[in-house]
Amino acid sequence: MICLGIESTAHTFGIGIMDDKGNVFANVKDSYTTKKGGIIPSKAADHHAKLCGDVIKEALDKAELSMKDIGIISYSMSPGIGHTLRIGAFAARSLALKYNKPLIGINHCIAHLTIGEALTGAKDPVLLYASGANTQIIAYEGGKYRIFGETLDIGVGNFLDSVAREMGLGFPGGPKLYELSLKGKKFIELPYSVKGMDVSFGGLLTNLKQKINSGKYINEDLAYSTQETVFAMLLEVSERAMAHCGKKELLLGGGVACNLRLQEMAKRMCRDRKAKCFILENQFNVDNGAMIAWQGILQFNSGERTEIKDAVIDPYQRTDEVEVNWK
Ligand code: ATP
Ligand code: FE2
Repeated sequence: MICLGIESTAHTFGIGIMDDKGNVFANVKDSYTTKKGGIIPSKAADHHAKLCGDVIKEALDKAELSMKDIGIISYSMSPGIGHTLRIGAFAARSLALKYNKPLIGINHCIAHLTIGEALTGAKDPVLLYASGANTQIIAYEGGKYRIFGETLDIGVGNFLDSVAREMGLGFPGGPKLYELSLKGKKFIELPYSVKGMDVSFGGLLTNLKQKINSGKYINEDLAYSTQETVFAMLLEVSERAMAHCGKKELLLGGGVACNLRLQEMAKRMCRDRKAKCFILENQFNVDNGAMIAWQGILQFNSGERTEIKDAVIDPYQRTDEVEVNWK
């Protein structure tokens, strides 16, 4: 059984094609970018609407398949930016109607976890999902995927992008800040903001902006100290979630999981507590269609179908609202 998955929760319009054995035949994307500033929802939606046909064609070509080989269509139903989600849902309904295929709407955050299980061999991990807009610690517990901790304000990726922007490094800032951090030598104490199982970055961002503009510090040291501080915060709550659930596996996901220093710190924490650390290839960390295709297969195999009339979007759906029938 082959599924074509459509991702459109934010910047990225992605198409993934996978089969039920976990083979990835294609994972193609095109992302809306801006030179300055953040995402403009209507512009991102225009980008997706303009390119969706091309990305679908490119994925089918890469997979050397045609629509008749596709058994299921899945799409990101939630959560995300309404404008962009609507384009993905529209594309999914159109393909399902035109080619008479079953349709499944899925939750994007859960897909970040299940693609990790499919491709790394993790069995029951705690997911540290660290992307631009999202920062959540998710694990399966008591019949649902639950959020054990999360950001109280902005996502860690958006935070890193803002720090980089303040330093004049350009967008996306995460990778640029990482490059700069390699030249940092001195650790500068920064506000460490863990509240219970949650984290926050707003106060830290204000503090950093003051430090960047004070002329007293060099950006290399600030980049290094920023990473050390926020990754320690993320791993502290991840470790506590692992201890609380008695889980022995950590999986990294989301764009920030591409960061080699975060990966190194995560591996170290796991080694210290005799747990396993699973890290995906970058193409499966960032938003991607393959994870949507895989989650579509899981839900299809558990008997789920989304009727065309119900194939809408749910921008604010929480991870623990999802009924889990596929476990
Ligand atoms: P979501 O909709 O899941 O929130 P997103 O639209 O923010 O996702 P992603 O591709 O998951 O998209 O993540 C993008 C973020 O990842 C950006 O903030 C970017 O700076 C950050 N990022 C990418 N590579 C690195 C890196 N090497 N180090 C740190 N941050 C990185
Ligand atoms: Fe994501």
